[in-house]
Amino acid sequence: MPYPDMIAIDGPAAAGKSTIGELLAKELGYLYFDTGVMYRAVTWAALQQGIDTADEERVTALAEQVHIEVIQPTVADGRQYTVYVDGQDVTWDLRRPEIDQHVSPVSAYPGVRAALTIQQRRIGQRGKIVMVGRDIGTVVLPEAPLKIYLDATVEERARRRHLENLRRGQKSSYEEILRAMRRRDKIDSERDVAPLRPAADAVVIDTTHLSIAQVMELVWKLIRERDS
Ligand code: DC
Repeated sequence: MPYPDMIAIDGPAAAGKSTIGELLAKELGYLYFDTGVMYRAVTWAALQQGIDTADEERVTALAEQVHIEVIQPTVADGRQYTVYVDGQDVTWDLRRPEIDQHVSPVSAYPGVRAALTIQQRRIGQRGKIVMVGRDIGTVVLPEAPLKIYLDATVEERARRRHLENLRRGQKSSYEEILRAMRRRDKIDSERDVAPLRPAADAVVIDTTHLSIAQVMELVWKLIRERDS
């Protein structure tokens, strides 16, 4: 039997999803697709157009018409992909703190999720894909033969994000990151539509005390098990 054609990776922010997802996709020769960027792209477009992110109707209408493209990196500056919103390269803008602040409420709107989920399913169903997000195993690709849910304590996740910022030479406060992360976890897991939770058949990996290499080893074990 071949390796699983679709691999779903879900979990909270900074649990290791993008690091593991990208490595795994490279090793398998699959496409790596981070669905979080689509919610970030809608949030960016709303802020750009002066739309209040609390205005569900306008944000939903925007999600239905905005053109989001995620392609192979066009610049070698450490990016995992290039994101265009209506033709504009917004790849790094999507990581700004204002986006972090507004993206969870935006991603809780059912109409926004419906619009983006359709596009994600279309991309996922082509196969040979590692898709990363919050609801990939539960909603976007429930048929994925391998579903992984990466978790870690909120303190460890905030520590990782803090170190990442410092390494990039950005100003960073651990306490602030921790507070913002708790708030996002709460919104993401308590929303009515597609809340953050492991699928019934997902394998949960707690990465709190694991290195990237150790997580990769566990993931490859799961892939080989499904291959036998
Ligand atoms: O993974 P991230 O930090 O880029 O995700 C940004 C936000 O988008 C996060 O608060 C949760 C939301 N999201 C979601 O609801 N469903 C997904 N499949 C991916 C992200």
